[in-house]
Amino acid sequence: MERPRLTPRRFGAASEDFNHIDVRPYSTVIGAEIGGVDLSTPLEPATLAEIRRAFLDWKVLFFRGQHLTVVQHADLARHWGELYVNPHLPDAGIEQVARIVHDESDPGNENMWHSDATHWDKPPLGSLLRAVKVPEFGGDTLWADLGAAYDGLPQALKERLVGLTAIHTQPAPDALSAALLRRKGTRVRHSVAEHPLVREHPETGRPILFVNPVFTSHVVGLPSQDSSALLDLLFRQVSFPEYQVRFRWEVGSIAFWDNRSTVHYGVNDYFPSCRIMERATILGDRPFPPAAVGS
Ligand SMILES: [Fe+2]
Repeated sequence: MERPRLTPRRFGAASEDFNHIDVRPYSTVIGAEIGGVDLSTPLEPATLAEIRRAFLDWKVLFFRGQHLTVVQHADLARHWGELYVNPHLPDAGIEQVARIVHDESDPGNENMWHSDATHWDKPPLGSLLRAVKVPEFGGDTLWADLGAAYDGLPQALKERLVGLTAIHTQPAPDALSAALLRRKGTRVRHSVAEHPLVREHPETGRPILFVNPVFTSHVVGLPSQDSSALLDLLFRQVSFPEYQVRFRWEVGSIAFWDNRSTVHYGVNDYFPSCRIMERATILGDRPFPPAAVGS
């Protein structure tokens, strides 16, 4: 079995490159904790600009001790774009912030690697998730860097991916989710999207391996066996810890991730404890392929 290969970071900025925030990286490629900022107060343009830069560099930013109101939470997310109103989840007081509750009657179900809603033509740009109640232990979230995972592929495989697209489709709800949807009277709108296997990040220009095992069903134009073998290989590439970061939540913690360049996994190890999160999701744009093959 091949080992993961890490290439030198190409876009990450060092802590000393920031004057208005403290940036403490959690790993070589993905994830940084941001300090020296109070997100409940209006952000100075220079501070916001540095947060934007750190977001693109590190793909997921962590903040601690940020006890925001729901309105402050939504206002913060709106700096990045229009917010999604989730018809499947209860809201947290305003419709742009969803409330996600797991307890003994509704166990966590985020424990599969995925980017959010890649079955949409325009998947979300990102999400800002805030911890309201956390279990005493457990309930961490992991993110993986799809740009670093792409960089680590052998050149021949990168060339094989050029021009390929994949179908992303909503998986059928499991029995528990189906019961929940029925109880809420929510109709599931089935959507399917075709995206390039490798997309270019619209802001950094970086090539990204745009697949995930929840939504990506098959590669267009390949026999079923070849499609499954290729996707399994790519999913395995994303599974290496070298491309990942793991976050331990506290009440008031915020994780803000770039949904275009990461997948995430909510560890479901805290049942039957209660975990309550609130989430604002920023609408995104249509993925497009890179102009040239990265090396
Ligand atoms: Fe998710």
